[in-house]
Amino acid sequence: MGIVEKMATRFAKGSVDNRSIQAARDAYYRRLARNVVARHVAAERSAYEDRNVLEQIIIPFILSRFEPETVLDIGREPSEAFYNEIFEDRELWTLDWDAQRARFGAPDHITDSAANLTNHFAEDYFDFVLMNGVFGWGLNDRDAIERAFAAVHVILNPRGIFVLGWNDTPDLVPVPLDQVQSLKRFTPYHFEPLGGTSFLCDTCRHTYSFYVK
Ligand SMILES: C[S@@+](CC[C@H](N)C(=O)[O-])C[C@H]1O[C@@H](n2cnc3c(N)ncnc32)[C@H](O)[C@@H]1O
Repeated sequence: MGIVEKMATRFAKGSVDNRSIQAARDAYYRRLARNVVARHVAAERSAYEDRNVLEQIIIPFILSRFEPETVLDIGREPSEAFYNEIFEDRELWTLDWDAQRARFGAPDHITDSAANLTNHFAEDYFDFVLMNGVFGWGLNDRDAIERAFAAVHVILNPRGIFVLGWNDTPDLVPVPLDQVQSLKRFTPYHFEPLGGTSFLCDTCRHTYSFYVK
């Protein structure tokens, strides 16, 4: 029996409170992410380096607190193929407009633009949508940006979370985010472990912004 199940049993017996269950779940998913990353990444990373923030803070917290059953990861590069393992046993979809990237994706992978998401997925389908390093890295056309975020809003479950990873530098911000109308449909989400609705990492002015419906 795993730690989460053990805690659940103790909770059912009344010997442990809700907060302890939550803490055990948080620790469980942090450990899971750490182990998966350790199998694939040799390099040392500082705590607030952007990849580390995503893999060791953001994803584990979302697995623990949002319990996503359906996950969409938009834009895949070689260094992320192992993310499939972090989301093992969940319904993971990946999407990238470059057909060459399909081999880094999940078994359920779509080759298309993020602007066309609603051609592939139903309303409210995903509990977690991750779009990291796509805005400003190919998703640059104003109309496509509007359509992509509008589509994410449609396919995101009302109990789900959308994480947008982007670089806050002039060359990588095709349209200032506060001028993107379709992003205004979301509610910024206070991401507790990072203390705000956006977090600026130590590297490359990489920023994570958090949204719910
Ligand atoms: C710089 S890579 C980074 C992606 C990766 N998620 C990461 O965290 O590093 C950008 C990826 O997004 C894809 N991409 C760019 N614009 C896109 C769009 N409009 N729709 C779908 N994929 C796009 C590119 O083909 C590429 O694989």
